[in-house]
Amino acid sequence: MHGMFRLALLGSALLFLTAAGLRHAMDAADLRRAYAGPVSSWPRAEVDAGVDFVEFGPLPAAPPPDGMEAQRIALGARLFDERRLSASGQFACASCHSPELGFGDGLRTSFGHDRRRGQRNAPGLYTAGFQHSLFWDGRSPSLEDQALQPIANPIEMAGQSRQIERWINRDQAYRRAFEAAFGIRRIGMADVARALASFERSLRPPQTAWDRVFTRGTEVLSDQQLEGLHLFRTKARCANCHHGPLLTDQKFHNLGISFYGRRREDLGRYAVTHNPADVGRFRTPSLRAVRRTGPYMHHGIFPSLAGVVNLYVAGGGVDQAVQSPTTSAPPPQRDPQLRKLALTPEERAALVAFLEIL
Ligand code: HEC
Ligand code: HEC
Repeated sequence: MHGMFRLALLGSALLFLTAAGLRHAMDAADLRRAYAGPVSSWPRAEVDAGVDFVEFGPLPAAPPPDGMEAQRIALGARLFDERRLSASGQFACASCHSPELGFGDGLRTSFGHDRRRGQRNAPGLYTAGFQHSLFWDGRSPSLEDQALQPIANPIEMAGQSRQIERWINRDQAYRRAFEAAFGIRRIGMADVARALASFERSLRPPQTAWDRVFTRGTEVLSDQQLEGLHLFRTKARCANCHHGPLLTDQKFHNLGISFYGRRREDLGRYAVTHNPADVGRFRTPSLRAVRRTGPYMHHGIFPSLAGVVNLYVAGGGVDQAVQSPTTSAPPPQRDPQLRKLALTPEERAALVAFLEIL
C-alpha cells in the first residue's frame, strides 16, 4: 500500500515535470517567433503610463575623425594616462578608469590622493560621450567641465592648475601635440580638458552579442539570454528606466539605497538641486558593458549582477523614513516604479544572462 502510494506520487511528479518541461520548451519557441523580426516587430515593452520609452537599438558608430579631431583624440589618450596631472605624480585618469575594467576601477569606491577613499564608485566611461549629464548626481554638464574636477579634487588627483600649466607649456612633445590638435601655442587647463573630452567621446563599448542582435537578429542569443531580454522589457520592469541605445532614460531615480541618516549617507541629486524630491536620487547608468564595470551602484555595494537583480526583486532597498537629525533633507521617497517582482530563480538567472551580453 505504502509502496503503491509512493509510486503514484512519483508518477504524478513525473507527469508534472514533463508538462512543465513542455510548457517551457513551448515558451522558448514562442519567444523565438515573437522576437524573430526586426526590433520594430518585437513584443511591445511594458512600461508605466507617463514613461517616454525609447526603443532599444545600437549605439551610433564613432564618426571618422577629421585630421584635427584625430590629433585631439590621440592627445587626449595620452593625457588620460598622464600622472603628472596629479599633485603626487601618482594618479592619472586611467588609475581609476582602467581600459581593462570597462574604464572603471573594479573597486567598491575609488582611492585617490594620499590613498583617501572617495564615497562613490568610478563609473565606466564607454558611453560617457552620450550622457546628458555626468557623475552619479549629474552635477557636471559636459565632459570638458567634468575633466577639470578630478584633477582639482583634493581626494582624487589634487592637481594644481598653475603648476600643471607651467610644466606642460615647457614640455616640447606636448607643445607640438597641442599645436597640431588645436592650433594653439599657449596651453591652458581648458585645452587639457578639451583633449580629454575628445578622447572620451571616441570611446565605444567592445562589440558584444547585443550589437549583433541589431545586425543579425535575436538568433545570436541563447534561449536563456532571449528570455532575459523579454523579462527585461516586460515582467521585470527594467525598461521603465533602462531604455534606448544606452539603456538609460538619463533621469534620476531613488532605489532606496541612499543610506539616509546613516554613516554612509549620500543624498545624490539633492546635493545639486536642493529639491526635496531629489533626496537619494541617482542618475540611471547606461547598462552597456555592465558585465565589466562591477561592483555596482553609486556606492558599489553590489559585487555581482545577481545581487542587483535581487534588489529589484525585493522592490528596491529600504531607507529610513523618519527625519534624520544630521541633515535638513527630508527622508527619501523610493521611486514608485519599483515593485516587488515575482521572478523564479530561473528567471533571475535569465536576467543576469541578458545583462552579461550588453
Ligand atoms: C581617484 C579616482 C579617480 C580619478 C583619478 C579620476 N576619476 Fe573619474 N571618476 C571617479 C569617480 C569615483 C567618479 C564618480 C564620482 C561621482 O559621481 O561623484 C568619476 C566620474 C567620472 C566621469 C563621469 C562618468 C559618468 O558616467 O557620469 C568621467 C567622465 C570621468 N570620471 C573622467 C575622468 C577623467 C577624464 C579623469 C582624469 C582627468 C578622471 N576621471 C580621474 C574616480 C576617478
Ligand atoms: C525606477 C527606475 C529603474 C528601474 C525600474 C530599474 N533601474 Fe536599474 N538603475 C536605476 C538607477 C537610478 C540606478 C543607479 C542607482 C544608484 O546607484 O543608486 C540603476 C542601476 C542599475 C545597475 C547598476 C549599474 C552600474 O553600473 O552600477 C544595474 C545592473 C541595473 N540597474 C539593472 C536593472 C535591471 C536588471 C532592472 C530590472 C529588474 C532595473 N535595473 C530596473 C534605475 C532603475
